[in-house]
Amino acid sequence: MALVIAIDGPAAAGKGTLAKRLAAHYGLPHLDTGLLYRAVGRLARERGVDLDDPEAAGAVARDLVPSHLDDGTLRGHEAGELASRVAAHPPVRQALDAFQRNFAAQPGGAVLDGRDIGTVICPDAPVKLFVTASPEVRARRRTDELLAKGRPVDYETILTEVRERDRRDAGRSVAPLKPAADARLLDTSELGIEDAFRAACAIIDGAPH
Ligand code: DC
Repeated sequence: MALVIAIDGPAAAGKGTLAKRLAAHYGLPHLDTGLLYRAVGRLARERGVDLDDPEAAGAVARDLVPSHLDDGTLRGHEAGELASRVAAHPPVRQALDAFQRNFAAQPGGAVLDGRDIGTVICPDAPVKLFVTASPEVRARRRTDELLAKGRPVDYETILTEVRERDRRDAGRSVAPLKPAADARLLDTSELGIEDAFRAACAIIDGAPH
């Protein structure tokens, strides 16, 4: 059976880093699905489209082509905020659905990370991980990361943003952030990346696939 690894979790829990490590280790292609939503948010903003209009945002999502994902600034904070807004609209999610499912259907399998991979995109994935960490730990990591890049940020502001984004991602009516019933929880609050990686490998190697 193809090894599909579905990784979900809130912002800044370490799922992106973990997904990359796992993809390299198991020799699988990796899709950071947040990047798709970020690209839609950015394109909508560039076109002057109302981000809170589901149909207009959906039309932008249907126009997305792979070259829109090449923009290095998509991983920044602003694109994340735009993404979180457009991601709440069913037409946007629907427009991105087939691309994600096709990616997951590659013969050897794939690693996908996002918010609804185990629940909506790959409900039959043999391995589902839900990666979390406390809001305080995530805000601390994000603050340190930005300070290391020379950005003048403060912890309290970042913590407020982390909580706000969690509230939006978990509170929306379509594909809210929640663990699949059969997902294994991986809390990285007290784990460094190496330990999180080892814990994930132990889960994957022990899973039937
Ligand atoms: O993982 P990220 O920070 O790049 O995600 C950016 C936003 O996109 C996030 O706030 C929620 C949304 N998203 C989503 O709704 N579904 C996904 N599969 C991935 C991301």
